[in-house]
Amino acid sequence: MAFKVGLLGLGNVGAGTAQILLDPAERHPLLRELEIYRVGVRSLDKPRAVEIPPDWFTTDLEAIVTDPQVDVVVEVIGGLEPARSLILKAIGHGKHIVTANKAVIARYGDEIFTAANESGVYVLVEAAVGGGIPVIQPLKQALSVNRIHAVTGIVNGTTNYILTRMQRERGDFDDILADAQRLGYAEADPTADVDGLDAADKIAILASLAFGGRIKLSEVYCEGICQVSAADIAYAERLGFVIKLLALAKRDTCPVSKEQLDQLQVRVHPTLLPNNHPLASVNDVYNAILVEGDPIGQVMFFGPGAGEGPTASAVVSDILNIVAALKTHRAADKNSPAALNPLLACTHQHYCEISPMSELISRFYVRVLAQDQSGVIGKLGTCFGWHDVSIESVVQIGMCDQMAEIVVVTHEVQEGNFQRALTEIRSFKEIDSIPSLLRVL
Ligand code: HSE
Repeated sequence: MAFKVGLLGLGNVGAGTAQILLDPAERHPLLRELEIYRVGVRSLDKPRAVEIPPDWFTTDLEAIVTDPQVDVVVEVIGGLEPARSLILKAIGHGKHIVTANKAVIARYGDEIFTAANESGVYVLVEAAVGGGIPVIQPLKQALSVNRIHAVTGIVNGTTNYILTRMQRERGDFDDILADAQRLGYAEADPTADVDGLDAADKIAILASLAFGGRIKLSEVYCEGICQVSAADIAYAERLGFVIKLLALAKRDTCPVSKEQLDQLQVRVHPTLLPNNHPLASVNDVYNAILVEGDPIGQVMFFGPGAGEGPTASAVVSDILNIVAALKTHRAADKNSPAALNPLLACTHQHYCEISPMSELISRFYVRVLAQDQSGVIGKLGTCFGWHDVSIESVVQIGMCDQMAEIVVVTHEVQEGNFQRALTEIRSFKEIDSIPSLLRVL
């Protein structure tokens, strides 16, 4: 008896998913044991990219998630509601879930996974992070024997595309964003991407899996790329760096003993990356996730972070994992309740403790516009010194709006100390403004 899939949504990812399921030749043989049973859409009249018999369609999405025939509900409608309610209702009716919805999982993962564990069903989310890149299953399975130190990713293709073009063309953010929108690389409303919110959802999900606890999205520090300027990119290049929007989750270490602590840092912000860092050459719309752990060292996942085909590949791989588990259970004993496979299920109970940003130890890059007169650099250096901020380099190369442009890169310092120094520096009469402040990896 075939396993029945109820597909919620037939946009790009839904159509890509249907295409794989309807054309199983030369793919895993288990795909032949799957059938699309119903497709839930908003409008029956819309032309579709994939040929689907008309009687599979319905606009009644609730009927799909409550239908006793359906084994797996695939949610690819996106957005928070009705996606969240439909997922919860499906779980309540004993359906396994596959979703690409990072926004719902990052916000309501607690509620959804608790309900899923109570109902004994799987909720798989490979497509929610990194599009077609398999990273969720590796974190749950192959890498789970490691003690993970850090997960660092370029997990938003739109911002990576914009920053790559700013770097290549020396263009300004606003112009390149407008062009990216014209070419279809950025949404008409780019807020979730350029403000880092999409990346924050994704790193919350990755951190939860890597560090085995739940993450409160509100505790994830998030800064987007709107303030990154062509000038910063040019200075970064002179200093041997590229600027990338990084999503990071790492265990804090004791500054003195270097011992790993229980608290995590989970943050998204534009970052100066040394040119020789493995993520520095990840360009255009590509995504990559670097996982560091003990004893494995560094592993990097690279590939297409979005798009119909790649995301559908991740969705169908989750369906296949569920079907494999169901098939094993059916073969063993149809009548007893199935125990969830612990390498597929998500059973975290506690919340991870997230360190405040003021405690972060990082290097910083700061660009200051100041009057070009004697003693200014000395004053900056003295102020940083008072606040225990050690300087690695200072350059004054050009002028900007008749002001001297001074770029300072610090050694590793505590963010709280650095911010206090900047507050004082802003009050100096010789200082015009501090247009840029970026962290350095
Ligand atoms: N908007 C996302 C990006 C793709 O630009 O990477 C979906 O997660």
